[in-house]
Amino acid sequence: MKAHAAEAALDYAESGMILGLGSGSTAEIFIDRLGKALKAGLLSDIRGVPTSSMTERAAQAAGVPLIPADQASRIDLTVDGADEVDGRFRLIKGGGGCLLREKIIAHASDRMIVVIDETKLVETLGAFPLPVEVDPFAFTITAKKVFDALRASGAPRADVALRRRGDGPAPFVTDGGHFILDCECGELPNPEDTARRLAAIPGVMEHGLFIGLARTVIVGEEDGAEVLE
Ligand code: 5RP
Repeated sequence: MKAHAAEAALDYAESGMILGLGSGSTAEIFIDRLGKALKAGLLSDIRGVPTSSMTERAAQAAGVPLIPADQASRIDLTVDGADEVDGRFRLIKGGGGCLLREKIIAHASDRMIVVIDETKLVETLGAFPLPVEVDPFAFTITAKKVFDALRASGAPRADVALRRRGDGPAPFVTDGGHFILDCECGELPNPEDTARRLAAIPGVMEHGLFIGLARTVIVGEEDGAEVLE
């Protein structure tokens, strides 16, 4: 299903574009297919802006030419995955821990296409734990503020846990040197309000609610892909 979505997204890539390259398994399938299209001469003069070190490695392996984000004067199109998508194209992202860079690139892009399998479509966001990227300094204080913000915006509960690296005790550290708080809420009934409250906390570098960014969602199914606009 992920492959069907990623392959359908290739139709939106045009020669000469600067492409934001998202992170995660679905985005990596897109990168693989993009590399194949470049090798076959179906596309040319594409440059990618990776949203994570994992994506950078995937693009290099696929033969997709890259430019550093700080040298991209514009980004035509970003293709990225998501952990949840609701009917208003509001997203939860950050399952892979790349949300800050993903949001910077999505926000800078003329268009964002989200590629998901059909299990990611939800009526209400929040069954997937919301990732919040925080500065390591005083992160326990920030975690308490995050808890308060989530409860104040109507989340029925807020279990805020520091993401660990694998099974060990060491914290997971993002490409930007930050920690991730995974917030189990059950549901997020007011995503805009939650986003506003989280963004106002000083130690929060970014949160995983992507609102008003996705214009197109491609949903991979068993036998094809559906494009939602
Ligand atoms: C990484 C992300 C990913 O896009 C999200 O976790 C979806 O990943 P996958 O395509 O592997 O299901 O937000 O930070």
